[in-house]
Amino acid sequence: MLIIVDENVYDVSEFVNEHPGGAKILKRVAGKDATKQFWKYHNEGVLKKYSPKLKVRLHVLDLQSGRGVDRLMAMLNVLEGRVVVCE
Ligand code: HEM
Repeated sequence: MLIIVDENVYDVSEFVNEHPGGAKILKRVAGKDATKQFWKYHNEGVLKKYSPKLKVRLHVLDLQSGRGVDRLMAMLNVLEGRVVVCE
């Protein structure tokens, strides 16, 4: 079960039943961008604490708003301008 917060993706499959705010509310946003709902109930500290456990290596790029694109550029810089893709 994946959710989006900002330009990051979190796998809450294992966490859902431990969520202090309840499983139901998390299930309702499964597979969706839950950024607005997340920031309504939590602060940065919660993300910092749980990111190592829940954050997956997927990034959400919104080409219309440019959200997340900076991060893509940073990744490309690490690869010295060459794009590597899987077959
Ligand atoms: C990465 C995903 C999430 C994590 C790690 C997480 C973690 C937590 C934690 C640790 C708490 C306890 C209160 C606190 O320490 O601030 C909490 C409470 C809560 N969470 Fe989440 N949460 C996540 C996503 C969400 C989402 C997407 C929603 C809404 C759709 C939500 C709704 C709530 C609510 C309503 C509470 C109770 C707030 C209160 O009692 O005042 N959470 N969550």
